Amino acid sequence: MKIISDIEELRDQLSGQLRTAFVPTMGNLHEGHLSLMRLAKRHGDPVVASIFVNRLQFGPNEDFDKYPRTFQADVDKLEKEGVYVLFAPTEKDMYPEPQEFRIQPPEDLGGTLEGKFRPGFFNGVCTVVLKLISCVQPRVAVFGKKDYQQLMIVRNMCRQLALPTQIIAAETRRADDGLALSSRNVYLTPQERAEAPMLFKVLNEVASEVRAGHLDIFKLEKHAVHKLKKRGWEPDYISIRRQFDLQPPMAGDLAKNTPLVVLAAAKLGSTRLIDNLEI
Ligand code: PAF
Repeated sequence: MKIISDIEELRDQLSGQLRTAFVPTMGNLHEGHLSLMRLAKRHGDPVVASIFVNRLQFGPNEDFDKYPRTFQADVDKLEKEGVYVLFAPTEKDMYPEPQEFRIQPPEDLGGTLEGKFRPGFFNGVCTVVLKLISCVQPRVAVFGKKDYQQLMIVRNMCRQLALPTQIIAAETRRADDGLALSSRNVYLTPQERAEAPMLFKVLNEVASEVRAGHLDIFKLEKHAVHKLKKRGWEPDYISIRRQFDLQPPMAGDLAKNTPLVVLAAAKLGSTRLIDNLEI
C-alpha cells in the first residue's frame, strides 16, 4: 500500500484510474470501517482510503484534540484489506491556506438533527468531502449508514454539483450486544459500555411501535427520550423522519407507508453517541 500525503503525488499515482473506489475516514479504524473497504472493493478497483481528522467539522468545544489517532494500527489494517493507496494528508496539505470557500448544505437537510446540535458540522463535512473527492476523483465513494444524515447530505451534494462520483451506502456494523461500532466508543468507561446498547434497544422499541401501527410520532419520541433520561442519558433527540428527505412524516406519509427512519443522538457520561434504524 502506498501512503501519500501530497495532493499532486496522489493525482500522479491515480492518473488514468477510471474505476477508483474511495473510503474517506478520520482513522481509528474498526471493523465498521473495514467493512466499508470490503464493500468498496466490490464496487471498484483500486480502493483508496483516506485518513484525515478534519478540524473544520469540529465545534470549538468538541473533541478535535482528543479524537483518537492510531495511525500505525490503521495502516496495518488497511494493508490487510488490500487497499492500494492511503491518502493521509497533513493539515498543511489539506488546508495550506484558510479554507474560505465552503460548502453550505441546505437548511432543511443540514440544519436539522445533527446540524441543529452541531452548528457548522455539515459545512465542515461537505467542504472536506468535496475536496477529498476532487483529490481522489473516484467513480464511487462509500459512506456508512451509521452517519445517516451525513450520507444523505453527501449524496445530495454530489448529485446537485454533478460530481462524477456515485455514493454507496454501507450497513451499520454492530457489536454482538447491538452497539453501533464507532471510533468514539473508546471514550466509554466499562459501566458506560455496558449501558450503551440501550440506545439501539430504544430505537428498536420505537420502530416496533411504528410497525405495529402506533402512529402518534410525537408521543413515541417523547417516551423514548424519557426512558433514556431515566437511565442517566442526556438525549439531544430521538426523531422519526422520512428516509428520503429526513423531514418529519405528515399524516399522509403514515397512511401511505412512506419509508421512515428513527434517528437518535444522546450523551452517556461525556460521550455523545448517535445511531439510527430504518423502519
Ligand atoms: O464520517 C467521517 O468519518 C467523516 O465525517 C468524513 C466523512 C471522513 C469527513 O471527514
